[in-house]
Amino acid sequence: MTRIVILALLVAFGAGGLAQAAPAGRVVVLCSPNVEWCDLLKAQFPRATGIQLDFVRLSSGEALARLRAERANPVFDVWFGGTGDPHFVANEEGLTEFYRPKAWDDLRPSLRDAVQNKYIPLYAGVLGWAVNGALLREKNIPEPRTWEALADPRLRGLVAYPNPNTSGTGYTMIATIVQLYGEARAFDLLKRIHRNVAEYTRAGAAPGVLAGRGEVAIGVTFVHDAVLQILSGFPVTYGSARDGTGYEIGGLSLVKGAPNRANAIAFIDWALTPEAQALAAQAKSYQLPSNAKTPVPSVAPRFQDFNVIRYDFPKYGTAAVRDGLVGRWTREVFPLPK
Ligand code: G6P
Repeated sequence: MTRIVILALLVAFGAGGLAQAAPAGRVVVLCSPNVEWCDLLKAQFPRATGIQLDFVRLSSGEALARLRAERANPVFDVWFGGTGDPHFVANEEGLTEFYRPKAWDDLRPSLRDAVQNKYIPLYAGVLGWAVNGALLREKNIPEPRTWEALADPRLRGLVAYPNPNTSGTGYTMIATIVQLYGEARAFDLLKRIHRNVAEYTRAGAAPGVLAGRGEVAIGVTFVHDAVLQILSGFPVTYGSARDGTGYEIGGLSLVKGAPNRANAIAFIDWALTPEAQALAAQAKSYQLPSNAKTPVPSVAPRFQDFNVIRYDFPKYGTAAVRDGLVGRWTREVFPLPK
């Protein structure tokens, strides 16, 4: 009995001690863009505010799964970046809450309107693919101009796209094809593309890396992630489906029950300033920044150069639709023989 009491006291004091030992000025960020950008945030936010920043980099689908798993006991304060659909889902499920940031009036109205106060727009980017032209020429294959062209049997083993379970980019691709062709035709096409897929990557930027290294000829990715490969000296260009392609409105969300809520809000307000948004380009992330006052990098792909669809974010950002499509892909496409 005494032992149990002592144990209980130890646990109580231990837990209290832990809580007190937690550094006061800290924010814990679930960071979904490329890790170089997350690293810069970690270096620069403390300089601007004195608040320490810790982060874990997880792709958008993984990040949503993590927030779901930690619902009862949130570890993260802010979810920074990643595609918008899972930010919508997180809001619907009460995992995040909308905070109206100080920079609200400076954010591009088209992005603000599209996300309907479910999260804060952080950036936007067009879906496309990185193309290894030398590999295509070697095999005498024309450059794909449609989603359908990715199913060309000559591309066998030469295509990569991200797994929609883990990657928001992968989900954007599937949701785009469904919006263009309807679900039945889309899944038929995904099954035919599957025969060509060398690898379903975990993260959205990885297919561009594979194309850059010549492991595949086509790596489906956001076109700004292909620009990163180009500027890093890899022999790729970028392209997209001329019959229509999707896009992302990258998200920024306050986690509900954030352990360091005041610091989370300080981080969100800082992250939307032009100075902080300019860190993206320093980290070679070339999305369109959401704050209209942030300079747009000259190498950032321009939306008007693409045939961008009217992506239905509220619909494809519901848990039922998202989990439904991802589940169907996992059951019907992923396990098929190649
Ligand atoms: C890259 C892109 C971001 C995008 C993110 C999504 O980092 O640069 O614009 O939001 O991928 O990541 P995911 O791994 O979830 O596809």
